[in-house]
Amino acid sequence: MKGLILAGGSGRRLRPLTHTSAKQLVPIANRPILHYVIDDLVGVGITELGIVVGDTADEIRASVGDGSAWGATVTYIDQKAPLGLAHAVLVAKSFLGKGPFAMYLGDNMFEDSLDSVVAGFDGSGAAARLLLAKVEDPTTFGVAELGPGGAITALVEKPERPPSDLALVGVYLFGPRIHEAVRAIQPSARGELEITDAVQWLIDQGGVVEHRVLNGWWIDTGKKDPLLRCNELVLDTVLPLVDGAVDGQSSLDGPVRVERGAVVVDSRLVGPLIVGSGARVSASTVGPYVSVGANCRISRSTVERSVLMEDSRVDDVGLLTSSVLGREATVDGGEGFGAQPVSVLLGDHSVVNVGR
Ligand code: TTP
Repeated sequence: MKGLILAGGSGRRLRPLTHTSAKQLVPIANRPILHYVIDDLVGVGITELGIVVGDTADEIRASVGDGSAWGATVTYIDQKAPLGLAHAVLVAKSFLGKGPFAMYLGDNMFEDSLDSVVAGFDGSGAAARLLLAKVEDPTTFGVAELGPGGAITALVEKPERPPSDLALVGVYLFGPRIHEAVRAIQPSARGELEITDAVQWLIDQGGVVEHRVLNGWWIDTGKKDPLLRCNELVLDTVLPLVDGAVDGQSSLDGPVRVERGAVVVDSRLVGPLIVGSGARVSASTVGPYVSVGANCRISRSTVERSVLMEDSRVDDVGLLTSSVLGREATVDGGEGFGAQPVSVLLGDHSVVNVGR
């Protein structure tokens, strides 16, 4: 079975970060989300991968390369504009050929392995198998209606009266009829070829659409708060290790990972926390739940529950919390040190002075 990873899209909900970079490359515990996606697929033996790319193609190619780091082969598929998930299948037709495939949204992360999702699909004759998760508020998702035998009988987008609490999440298995489906459907009101419409077409044509219900957590990282929640969940699993230099004036509480070449001076590190290679933390309290990217600088500040991408800086900030800083972004407290907590989402190279 081949794997199709969707790493194009417009990423509006993570602007301004996505003005300059791909949301699939935002680091969670200092690794790009897309790398976890590839781990998952390779982990269930899917090594022939196609990655659908848009405006951020160059950056994605630079990060993933030819896939040999995973023992996989990667084919890049250009999507000229983000015209929908079903459109991504349409443009990937020649890569996908006639066999079954797993489609994985490149900004989604899962706790559990995909083993039980993938097992037995190839050769089952089903037109599709969808992954569903129980959600509290189904009105904001694509929701599945199930028949008595458990097959999916209909899909409804953001229903006012949900037929179940089972929402579609970011992994789909398809048999070859999906190619007919994506050609048959029309763009939706938002101008996209919707994958839910393509699956509904399969159902209407009498195809069997199976499902599996997810047990562990699942996060669509395409917005700031879920992204930070995902960072917390993954940091909870990071193994503590001190490979960098921590001076005698500093203290470490809980699971802390200080990578090679990082320097910690006169600071309190509170795990779960990762301090990336070449980063420097001085006279600060950092953590819990912070991912400090490579070569970041944190001075005279307190930082908690945040993602700091490579080469970003935090100076003289009383409390930076629930924030995402793009590459080479700076938050400077200046004379306002000790003021109100600061929470920001900054694009690459941004500079914010939160002092007076
Ligand atoms: P979404 O998060 O649903 O869409 P988006 O990236 O356009 O984001 P936003 O709604 O914030 O503007 O996309 C899910 C995944 O699929 C994501 O990794 C981007 C990718 N994608 C494509 O590759 N091609 C597309 O045409 C679309 C819509 C998404």
